[in-house]
Order: sequence, then structure tokens, then C-alpha cells
Amino acid sequence: EFIKEVTGIKVLEQQLKDTLNLDYVVVVPGDSDELHWVKQEMGRACVQYLKQHILPDQAIAITGGTTMAAVAEMMSPFSNAEQCLFVPARGGLGERVENQANTICAEMAKKARGDYRLLYVPDPLSEESYQTIIEEPSIKEVLDIIRSAETVIHGVGDAMTMAERRKTSQEQLDVIKNQNAVGEAFGYYFNREGEVVHKVRTVGLQLEDLKHANHVIAVAGGKSKAEAITSYFQPGQSNVLITDEGAAQELIKGI
Ligand code: BG6
Repeated sequence: EFIKEVTGIKVLEQQLKDTLNLDYVVVVPGDSDELHWVKQEMGRACVQYLKQHILPDQAIAITGGTTMAAVAEMMSPFSNAEQCLFVPARGGLGERVENQANTICAEMAKKARGDYRLLYVPDPLSEESYQTIIEEPSIKEVLDIIRSAETVIHGVGDAMTMAERRKTSQEQLDVIKNQNAVGEAFGYYFNREGEVVHKVRTVGLQLEDLKHANHVIAVAGGKSKAEAITSYFQPGQSNVLITDEGAAQELIKGI
């Protein structure tokens, strides 16, 4: 029974790797929609990946979200982390404090025994303040580190779930709905074809910055996120996916 289970997971991993054109895939058993510990298992797998792949003197940009919080929860010290800098990927996205990248970044760095820098920007930002803020020297310095980060770790969310969880205005909610957004990652909303239909205005990592990163690690699971994950991976932005059986099975069915 156990062997069958392991073989099944290995097959799923290979299928995802081939269909989404990825370098590295981990599928953990279970469905995180139903059981919280499955999120922690994804967190554990992510920590293991970091320990095996992160070189010293790197910047690691991370997003917020409950899945990233589980990664932080499972983090433990590793030697190269001491010379690494953890930074939040983007400024405020309208999340509650416990889901914010800043909070999770500080916790993750502390547990890894690495260093960290935070971003203090209000959200949402008007175009005018946005322009002023990005010129502020202390902010600019952190932004440069973020935008050239070698490693990015992020969650992927269901579009409507994320829009409702954040302080999204009615006007933006309408755009997200009418443009049929299904997936979301670091404040970008994607439709089924993987096109960006809306973007939260804030400072930090932009989609095009991902091209320069060596490791872009998406950590997202649960049957309910299958469509979101597929939409995000259409343009092939990330090269590593850490997910669970619930999402993986549903995803394979839909492709
Ligand atoms: C956000 C990230 O904080 O969390 C997004 O910026 C991601 O990239 C979202 O979609 C996912 O949240 P959760 O709670 O489902 O892990």
C-alpha cells in the first residue's frame, strides 16, 4: 500500500514537471484544503529545497500568505542562510499583519539564522505617492535588493479568494471578476490563459524581475487552487513547484 502511494506521487511529480515544464517538483501527500498539516509538509519540502540549493550571499525574496507562514513555521537554521538576506517580495497588498510578507520574512530569517530587511510602505498606494516613495533612498536600497533577488519564494492563490481577503476596492473587484481572473501571485491576477488582468499597485518585485532569478519557487496546494496554479504557470514564470496531492490530481485532470 505504501509503495503504491509513493509510486503514485512520483508519477504525479513527473507529470507536473513535464506538462508545466518545470525543473523541480515536489508533491506532498494529502490535501491542504482539508488538513493544515499538509501545508506544513509543503513548508518542510520548501525548507529542504533551500538547504540543498541556496548559496551564501544571496537575497531571498518571499511573499506573504498562510502557505508562506507555514514555510516560516517549518524553517530551521542552515549554514548558508547566515550569509543570506531575506526580504519581502513586494510592499503592502492589503493583507492582515499575520499574512504580510514583512511579518513572515522576519520570522523566517530569524528561524534560518539569516539576516533580513523590511519594506515599510502604506497600501494601497496612489500613483503620486508611489513615485515619491520609490525615490526615497532608504526604500530604494531595499528595492534594489528585492528586484535583483536570486531566489523568490511565493504563494499562489485563487483570484476571488485573494481579492476578497485583501482591502480590494469595489472598482478593482469588478475588474478582477469581469476579466475572469482565476489565479493570483504576489499581487498579480491572471486569467485562464495566464494573462495579467489586474495588478495591485505597490513597490517591489515586478513580474519581469523573475527572469533574472535562479530559483523561483511556488508553494501552493489544495484542490481549490488547481485552476489558479495552472493559470499562473501558463507563461512559465517559476521553475520550482511545491504542491500537494489534492492540487496535483485536480491539475492533471484539467490539462
Ligand atoms: C499572498 C501572496 O500573500 O499569498 C500571493 O502574495 C499568494 O502570491 C497568496 O497568492 C496565497 O495565500 P495563501 O494563504 O493561500 O497561502
